[in-house]
Amino acid sequence: MGASGSGKTSMRSVIFSNNPASLTSRLGATIDVEQNHVRFLGDLILNLWDCGGQDSFMDSYLSIQSSTIFQHVGVLIYVFDVESREMDKDLVYYRDCLEALRKYSPEAAVFLLVHKMDLVRTSRIALLEKKTKELEEQSGEMEITVFGTSIYDESLYRAWSRIVHTLIPNAAVLSRHLTTLAEACSATEVILFERTTFLVIATSSIAAPDTPARPDGLPNAHLLTSDSPDPAAAHQFDPTRYERTSELIKSFKHACSRMREEFHSLEMELPEFTAVLDELTKNTYIMIVVHDPTIETAALRINIRLARHKFE
Ligand code: GTP
Repeated sequence: MGASGSGKTSMRSVIFSNNPASLTSRLGATIDVEQNHVRFLGDLILNLWDCGGQDSFMDSYLSIQSSTIFQHVGVLIYVFDVESREMDKDLVYYRDCLEALRKYSPEAAVFLLVHKMDLVRTSRIALLEKKTKELEEQSGEMEITVFGTSIYDESLYRAWSRIVHTLIPNAAVLSRHLTTLAEACSATEVILFERTTFLVIATSSIAAPDTPARPDGLPNAHLLTSDSPDPAAAHQFDPTRYERTSELIKSFKHACSRMREEFHSLEMELPEFTAVLDELTKNTYIMIVVHDPTIETAALRINIRLARHKFE
């Protein structure tokens, strides 16, 4: 939810329909509610409601439609345009939505996206801190998580991976299985992506003691190989690597489709590391990253094939 023009349909179109950010300016206003269904692992289906933000729709969601809109909500994602000229009005609607959510889905998690951060010319960190404080004040007792996002960079994937992560009931089990696979491959880490969106579902890891915590709470990589060539380097992973991978692969897939080619898998062999990205199940892709130059990508592919039935 969020005001008209705040960017809800744009982010849905970038993440769930694989459209490039540059085409979102052609999107029209959403009339009432548009729904997407994305099948994640097995029976887990993400049911996404994009609620058009024009005042007349908002008034209707908050009155006659409230029991339909706010019932059985897993996660409320409220989008604020960082440059909104009507912040006071946006906040009134936001508070009314929280009220309805408390009534119909008190267990729902609340994520607030301060969106279009690419337009900010001053310090983004300082602005986001200020906005977060303001939104916390408006949210009363409700626990909220705030992200700064833009469709033009990986920040969108960071926020959405975290949102999806909270909805996956067996994320910890998945993470354990990925860790087992990582150990079998002598991999530094293994990452599981949803196939269409390329959002991160789970990773192999538990936080290594001296790896800085990620700002979004997703787990950090744990160094699994004690005899890795340069353990110190492995501890200096970029904390934004997951969302950057999601964004890069999505762009690459888009480039492939423009060439009328279909993306299947990817291998990278660089002096510092080797990575294999391949289909795991019908709905997922897996990426294995190793820092040991003696490990062949063919071996990683065989391990992926052998692990496949465990994840189906
Ligand atoms: P309603 O359907 O009326 O509720 O609006 P909406 O929230 O779905 O807005 P929409 O996605 O249609 O986006 C409105 C405009 O914002 C479009 O022109 C997008 O290109 C633009 N936009 C969306 N996200 C971003 C962003 O991250 N940065 C910038 N600069 N523009 C964005």
